[in-house]
Amino acid sequence: MVSTSDLEATSFSIPEHVLASSGKRMPLLGLGTAASPPVGSEAIKMAILQAIKLGSRHFDTAAKYGSEKPLGEAIQEAFSIGLIQSRDELFITTKLWCGDAHGELVVPALKRSLQNLKLEYLDLFLIHWPVSSKPGIYEFPIKEENFLPMDFNSVWAAMEDCQRLGLTKSIGVSNFSCKKLNDILTIAKIPPVVNQVEMNPLWQQKKLREFCKAKGIFLTAYSPLGANGTSWGSNRVLECEVLKEIAKSKGKNVAQISLRWAYEQGVSVIVKSFNGERMKQNLEIFDWSLNEEELKKIDEIPQSRGVPGVAYISKYGPFKTVEEIWDGEM
Ligand code: A2P
Repeated sequence: MVSTSDLEATSFSIPEHVLASSGKRMPLLGLGTAASPPVGSEAIKMAILQAIKLGSRHFDTAAKYGSEKPLGEAIQEAFSIGLIQSRDELFITTKLWCGDAHGELVVPALKRSLQNLKLEYLDLFLIHWPVSSKPGIYEFPIKEENFLPMDFNSVWAAMEDCQRLGLTKSIGVSNFSCKKLNDILTIAKIPPVVNQVEMNPLWQQKKLREFCKAKGIFLTAYSPLGANGTSWGSNRVLECEVLKEIAKSKGKNVAQISLRWAYEQGVSVIVKSFNGERMKQNLEIFDWSLNEEELKKIDEIPQSRGVPGVAYISKYGPFKTVEEIWDGEM
């Protein structure tokens, strides 16, 4: 266990993107807080405090991760020991779980998340997956019989209410295909500012990135390292031979090559590490670059999804196959 006195003070300068909807500056590298297998709240809190000490200001959580409360506690402690002076320095994202993806449940769900986080407002509130489950059921995995199609009209209208009420600065989605983004754009009075999706050198999201760029939606990459060690990820990114070769020739590691590559594609990146040494490595990607040849090699890596969303398929729900979740964008 790390105590705050053990934390080594370092500060990395992390580039930012200004979100058009709010004018808020989003650091382009954020810390993911979904731990699998789960770790205790105290370990999450201490990891986040360590990240703050190292210079991280962007944190990604979700109602489903169990990390909202420890993130809130870490933020409180960071204020009290003077690591952070103002709420405005932070960029905090959380996500609406499927059981709350019903028009009338969205605002109460965000209020609960804010209570957990001990915050008055969020910077970004995302729909976690484009599917609902029976109201008020928070199980994971979701039982096959509990899936429901999401009513985009009422859910997105409630997301817009969250922004109008000042409970969040911006709203967006996660795990949305081009087709589903288009469905939201058709009905939206406030368009989504962000789509957070799996993106790494082995699943580069070229089509979705082009679509998002054309529509003014900023893309955030999750699982940039392939979510190694989790129940949903694998070591396929960290063990990729092309990346290993590039890493070796540059004197970097594969994680740094993957993160730098994502950053150079003009997206923001959420990377999870609860290990101080690896957190530091992940921040050390902004003072060097990949050359044309290296980028070409990465461009040619065979593509496939690492997180196909099998847990969201159900014979009773809206998605009976993985292809249906992604509208064939495989
Ligand atoms: P740990 O928390 O022990 O550092 P992703 O961000 O794609 O979801 O990947 C997260 C996984 O990758 C976690 O298991 C994390 O483990 C590990 N990880 C994070 N940073 C690094 C790194 N620099 N080198 C190797 N593994 C890393």
